[in-house]
Amino acid sequence: MCGIVGYVGSKDALPILIESLKKLEYRGYDSSGVGFLDHKANLVVRKSKGKIRNLEELIRTQPVPFAHTGISHTRWATHGFPSDINSHPHTDSKHHIAVVHNGIIENYQELREELKKKGVKFVSETDSEVIPQLIASVYKGDLAQAVRQTLLRLKGTFALGVISRDNPDCLVAARVGSPLIIGVGDGENFIASDVPAILDYTRRVIYLQDGQMAVLSKTSQELFTFDGKKVKVKIDTVSFSVTAARKEGYAHFMLKEIHEQPLVLEQMINLRLKNGKLTLEGLGISDDSLKNIRKILVVACGTAYHAGMVGKYIIENLVRLPVEVDTSSEYRYRDPLVDRHTLVLAVSQSGETADTLAAAREAHAKGAKVIAICNVVGSSLAREADGILYTYAGPEIGVASTKAYSAQLMMFYLIALKLAQLRKTLPPKRSKELISQLTNMPSLYKEILRNTQHIQKIAEANSHFGCFLFLGRHVNYPSALEGALKLKEISYIPAEGYAAGEMKHGPIALIDEYRAVVCINPQSHVYEKMASNIQEIRARKGNVIAIATQGDVQVKHNADFVVEIPLTDELLSPLTVILPLQLLAYFIALKRGCYVAHPRIFAKPLTVVSGPSMLGPVRYLHPGNFNAIYRLNTHRQSKRHHPARH
Ligand code: F6R
Repeated sequence: MCGIVGYVGSKDALPILIESLKKLEYRGYDSSGVGFLDHKANLVVRKSKGKIRNLEELIRTQPVPFAHTGISHTRWATHGFPSDINSHPHTDSKHHIAVVHNGIIENYQELREELKKKGVKFVSETDSEVIPQLIASVYKGDLAQAVRQTLLRLKGTFALGVISRDNPDCLVAARVGSPLIIGVGDGENFIASDVPAILDYTRRVIYLQDGQMAVLSKTSQELFTFDGKKVKVKIDTVSFSVTAARKEGYAHFMLKEIHEQPLVLEQMINLRLKNGKLTLEGLGISDDSLKNIRKILVVACGTAYHAGMVGKYIIENLVRLPVEVDTSSEYRYRDPLVDRHTLVLAVSQSGETADTLAAAREAHAKGAKVIAICNVVGSSLAREADGILYTYAGPEIGVASTKAYSAQLMMFYLIALKLAQLRKTLPPKRSKELISQLTNMPSLYKEILRNTQHIQKIAEANSHFGCFLFLGRHVNYPSALEGALKLKEISYIPAEGYAAGEMKHGPIALIDEYRAVVCINPQSHVYEKMASNIQEIRARKGNVIAIATQGDVQVKHNADFVVEIPLTDELLSPLTVILPLQLLAYFIALKRGCYVAHPRIFAKPLTVVSGPSMLGPVRYLHPGNFNAIYRLNTHRQSKRHHPARH
């Protein structure tokens, strides 16, 4: 997974491409590069292994000329290890055409062999290099035509930006299965993998659809299907502000997004709860159909999966409807049992996670209705699902997911309450009480965040531990999993989440004075059970950090450290316990000197494999749909001089 940016206009492209690229570094950061057409229409490429600052350093020592058309790329290696050569842009052998690519070309070996037989010499180990080589091999003076011919030969997933020295005022883009948007400016156009990259320049965007290509000049945007049919251009205005994509004084996006959570929840409540009445606009399913569902299946990955696990407890408790939760990567390969009476909730912040898309498609193909719970407006999952419930949490730029999680939890509460109302499984008084507590949640969040310094101190006092356990029961068992995930992904400390009742079946052997154990124990019907687990840990000299309800005196005797959270209905407690867990992970990582902004292993989202669309015929691609493109591909198989930078 990678980030791409392109520019065509009248301004100096370099600073635009670099600054925009930095906003996509969350998508990959093992190498980066830029490609420009200089005033003599020569193709100039600079690329470097490592973070974007290495590329900037390279450009300082090897300046590039003024150019008003260019492309840039930040890479997360899939084919070929991170190196200068494997970085993008890739060019054809004659150095006439340059391409940036996000995704995977599955048939690149076959294409490479075919081109090699024609004498083409490859310099990198990437799948991406076949693209400029293929374009060059069919190029006869019309760049758009050559790109189109090439697209029909590619299998897999891709978002592309293409420039050519023969067409210095033209930027060509295309996508299948990897995100790409077009930013429409005044006398300039952009392409980018994600909206935040271009928000400094424009808020007007075109969401390029799968199977579409765009031909951009500084003043025009033309869209086509891969078989050359013109597509009507629809320009949307992005609703979130420029500041949403800036750190605004916070040290990291993760910290900023943790602090944004009260606002995110408040907005969700204002949108979805009007005068105590629930509105789930976008659901796309009639009340009658909702009443007849026999089972709910949640598919998701990582943090979104943990939100789904909480969702199971909530829905089963409030609606008395069976809920299965599966990691998308398992679900899609296990020939699952779903039918038209199953409602599938596909949860994904990005809406681009390949396994979740594939799982949703699989369920859809088996007759289930698919509702996406998604943050990114216009994402693949959002477009393909039968219904879409947006969380509208704004761009989540921090690599570790925080505000998307609390928003997903909130959405599960709202869905459960809606279903409970429809199916009459909840006394109105209880429903009203839960709604009232949810409405009050933003205030509770602000209260917990006022305690940040205390949590930071606890984090710092425990940051030396080389191993953490996170324990929870019932609805906070998933919270334990999420707490452990947050810690390991940004601090690299081995951390395990467990259902506390499972301790005695083996994991208790791990406890000694070298372990820190985070025990999540707000007031609930399993409080005493969890309190016994804390005693067991103390007896083995484990270091206990408890997350407990304000005023809990008992826990203060048994835990080494206590983070207090306000009292809520126990079913709602995953919403409150998550804040201290996120802050603990953040401050432990910070204290250990970890690079919170760019953790070493993880970039998001994981759009690396693809499959056919879950939809039937014609939705957003002419002719046919993503299926059609998939099949198609399977079968055929201004030149101003700027002296300062010379
Ligand atoms: C962890 C994290 C990941 C994502 C997972 C799914 O902090 O961010 O575990 O939750 O990759 O991503 P989405 O929700 O975009 O499908």
